[in-house]
Amino acid sequence: MLKRVLVTGGAHRLGALICQQFAQAGWQVWCHAQRSVPAAQALCDQIIAQGGQARTVQADLALAEERERMMAEIAAHGGPLECLVNNASSFEPDEANDFDVRALRLQLEVNLVAPLHLSRLMVQNLSAHMPQAASIIHLLDQKVFNLNPDYFSYTVSKLALERSVALQAQALAPRVRVCGVAPGLMFLSGPQTQANFDQASRVNLLQRAIDPVQVAATCLFIAQNPALNGVTLPVDNGQHLVPLSRDVMFAVQDLKDTHA
Ligand SMILES: NC(=O)c1ccc[n+]([C@@H]2O[C@H](COP(=O)([O-])OP(=O)(O)OC[C@H]3O[C@@H](n4cnc5c(N)ncnc54)[C@H](OP(=O)(O)O)[C@@H]3O)[C@@H](O)[C@H]2O)c1
Repeated sequence: MLKRVLVTGGAHRLGALICQQFAQAGWQVWCHAQRSVPAAQALCDQIIAQGGQARTVQADLALAEERERMMAEIAAHGGPLECLVNNASSFEPDEANDFDVRALRLQLEVNLVAPLHLSRLMVQNLSAHMPQAASIIHLLDQKVFNLNPDYFSYTVSKLALERSVALQAQALAPRVRVCGVAPGLMFLSGPQTQANFDQASRVNLLQRAIDPVQVAATCLFIAQNPALNGVTLPVDNGQHLVPLSRDVMFAVQDLKDTHA
């Protein structure tokens, strides 16, 4: 029987790669989007043209009632999910000594509260006849193992979500497995320039850019490996073992300024 996965923030970048990986492995994909519904629809059309199954679903994950509506829509039109991939994220620069409370709350809501709430809603709708445990996968960040104070609110949200992996695994067993995937720098983000990204993306033990396809493949691997539970896999070319005093995009810029 076809297995169903929901990928949040599935229209672009890592989310789109995760949707493609699951579809190619025979899963029925729910591709969630907030603002990028046309891109999500185009991705679903492409998956269907290749013989896969995919549907879009829209929701602002910052709002509890939107999350509930989305999960009810999925349950009504598709049935219970076998996997939830919490990929959507808000990534805004701020600092511990200078942050906007509303911006902090928004990042906590999208990056932490939404994944936990969607997990709870998924569990409520689980089928009683699943042959194997369902899975929940949280997209984290190598930053949780390699702290620096930049992107303060974002980092706090991902740290709390990383700690939730074990708590949820304990609480939701034996019906659900919960794992994390902690990527390193994959895509140009925020104020970063292409030149900065080209340099920063090689700041890891392997000194080469991290392939986001491998991060997406790790999500599928976790979903399909019934023995993995309560762990977070860093998929970052070893970036978490290269400590920096600032976020890598700022560290590279600081180095450039010093040598200018
Ligand atoms: N980018 C990197 O290099 C990097 C590095 C380490 C970890 N990560 C983690 O890997 C994951 C994917 O990264 P990414 O860069 O591909 O993500 P991204 O492009 O920054 O964001 C993915 C999607 O999140 C959705 N989103 C944001 N706010 C939302 C809201 N209020 N409601 C619903 N959806 C919302 C957006 O969907 P719409 O476009 O539909 O609005 C967006 O396309 C994230 O969890 C990120 O923290 C990324």
